[in-house]
Amino acid sequence: MARKDMPPKPRDPSWRARHALGHKRHQSADAYSRADSRAAERAARGERADDAVEATIVLGIETSCDETCAAIVRADRRVLASRVRGQADAHARYGGVVPEIAARAHVEHIDRLVAEALDEAGLGFDALDAVAATAGPGLIGGVMVGLMTGKAIAAVAGVPLIAVNHLEGHALTARLTDDVAFPYLLLLVSGGHCQLLAVEGVGRYTRLGTTYDDAVGEAYDKTAKLLGLGFPGGPAVERAALAGDATRFKLPRPLKGRPGCDFSFSGLKTAVRHAVETLGAGRLAAQDVADLCASFQAAVADVLADRVANAFALFGERFPAGDVLVVAGGVAANQALRARLGTVAEAHGFVLVAPPPELCTDNAAMIAWAGIERLALGLTDALDAPPRGRWPLDPDAPPATGAGIKA
Ligand code: KG4
Ligand code: ZN
Repeated sequence: MARKDMPPKPRDPSWRARHALGHKRHQSADAYSRADSRAAERAARGERADDAVEATIVLGIETSCDETCAAIVRADRRVLASRVRGQADAHARYGGVVPEIAARAHVEHIDRLVAEALDEAGLGFDALDAVAATAGPGLIGGVMVGLMTGKAIAAVAGVPLIAVNHLEGHALTARLTDDVAFPYLLLLVSGGHCQLLAVEGVGRYTRLGTTYDDAVGEAYDKTAKLLGLGFPGGPAVERAALAGDATRFKLPRPLKGRPGCDFSFSGLKTAVRHAVETLGAGRLAAQDVADLCASFQAAVADVLADRVANAFALFGERFPAGDVLVVAGGVAANQALRARLGTVAEAHGFVLVAPPPELCTDNAAMIAWAGIERLALGLTDALDAPPRGRWPLDPDAPPATGAGIKA
């Protein structure tokens, strides 16, 4: 339909109000007039303004670690496409992610992944209402690649950019998959973070606890490395543990039984190393590896269950009606840990919500969804939004004490 033939723009107050901030704050008039004209086109097709909100389409881009990801998500919670290209092969021989290799691989693959996601969704740039790209925290070279790509596409498509906090992507995934209402308790367990947070709204997080040293995913990866299981370690340890005896090795449960919601995993990792040395590194039988993995995983499960139990009490004081525990981040893909968290949640009158495993590990659907949530509140960003290596969800949380802290 030619522009001059368009019917009047929809004037639904909630849509306007939700976008008002974004209109005023950051975007060029041109970008918004194009977004408005798309809304008008939808109105012309007989969609109500609410339908237009539901039909908002956002491209998500994620490049903060070693997965290059692009996804297309609609505000009605439909994931139209989600492409993930891992780089495990490129990093495997180093036993961990090498930042420069990761950044180069993102440069090489991001354009193709975006094109594939658009193809799969059957859409072009002109269908997008916004572009959401991870702006941190993460490996800065990779973050820059994805954010720059997102900015370029937003500029070309004439739509708003949303610079998304990767952790907020994880934190809000349960609202994409299960429409969970605020507030909820969040256990965020990934390769770089292990935190308990009260989630009150978009951008509103109160940290209840964090790790003094290693993140839980990091503990999985280091354990896998010690046992020669390769990288990434989490899925390999989980697989090996299935055939193991969790009672064979008496591993520590750091901080278990202590007040508060903080974590520590470096002692557990060291205990695994001592066990390996005692058995004789390089001479481990498959059963030794399986038993160590099972023992390690049981220790992690015990610690998480104990810390979460304390968090239920703390969260309950602030939000007596809140009864949902969300687990998110790569480690949340672990079936044994999910089962244990489900049991402990139930015992405390909470319900566990765990997104499907492919939306726990890094992906761009969660970034697109965080973009949709932010766009609805008018929280868009300027094209000079900076990449951020460090970006805590709760900037007011006091620094945790302990060595090697990852706030
Ligand atoms: O969220 P994520 O994909 O990336 C970061 O933001 O860090 O999390 C990656 C971490 C890695 O440490 C990986 O070993 C761990 O999540 N992970 C798992 C499992 N799948 C991934 N840990 C335990 N069990 C799994 N099944
Ligand atoms: Zn992540």
